Amino acid sequence: MPPRPTMTNPARLPMIAPSILSADFSRMGEECRGILAAGADALHLDVMDGHFVPNLTMGPDMCKWVRKACPSALLDVHLMVQRPAMYIEPFAKAGADHFTFHIEVAPTKPQVREMLAAIRAQGMTAGVAINPPTDLRALLEVIDPDDASLRPEMVLVMSVNPGFSGQSFLEDTLDKTRAVRERFGPDLRIQMDGGVKPDNAARVRDAGCDVLVAASAVFGKPEHERAAVIASLRG
Ligand code: DX5
Ligand code: ZN
Repeated sequence: MPPRPTMTNPARLPMIAPSILSADFSRMGEECRGILAAGADALHLDVMDGHFVPNLTMGPDMCKWVRKACPSALLDVHLMVQRPAMYIEPFAKAGADHFTFHIEVAPTKPQVREMLAAIRAQGMTAGVAINPPTDLRALLEVIDPDDASLRPEMVLVMSVNPGFSGQSFLEDTLDKTRAVRERFGPDLRIQMDGGVKPDNAARVRDAGCDVLVAASAVFGKPEHERAAVIASLRG
């Protein structure tokens, strides 16, 4: 089997990472295999704890079963939880390749440095996410393109207030994506997540995003239409 693609060594860009949050949980293995066959580059797992966001979704056990169903998929885990550090090892053991946490719960340089080191020690790449109401300075004053210990492999610019799929894309978050791309250059992966659809995907890509997450736009469609949705997200 060829090595799995990673965030730093993607098979192609932009990547399309459907969020399994909108999949049929009773047929998860089939849903995941189907979406990869339809052209998805990664599977995005939205983990919510009922504290950081007002919803509960999935944990390492779901990741383990998705890994079993899809041994060669890039598994991109997005932690919308108050205490992400305690889940680094469980998700790595469950087969995750990439782990994103929120700057809102680890807002200082020492905290970010510690998180990045712990994620990498488990063999995963690291992402830092920022919510729509959070000022971009809170992120850019902490992460640093010139310091490997503070340079994540990915920044996730949230384009809805996290918690639920199916919300409307917040257009002003495109400015954040442009600013992050300008500061970090082409090597950083920038992901947008929330309300991404074929009708706004070109704007998302043009702003500098190279990993597009979509839940309802993909899994909300009947199976035979999903390949076309993924192709139009990719552009
Ligand atoms: C935010 C989650 C997203 C979200 C995406 O709540 O991190 O991944 O479910 O859902 P759509 O694409 O339907 O907005
Ligand atoms: Zn997400």
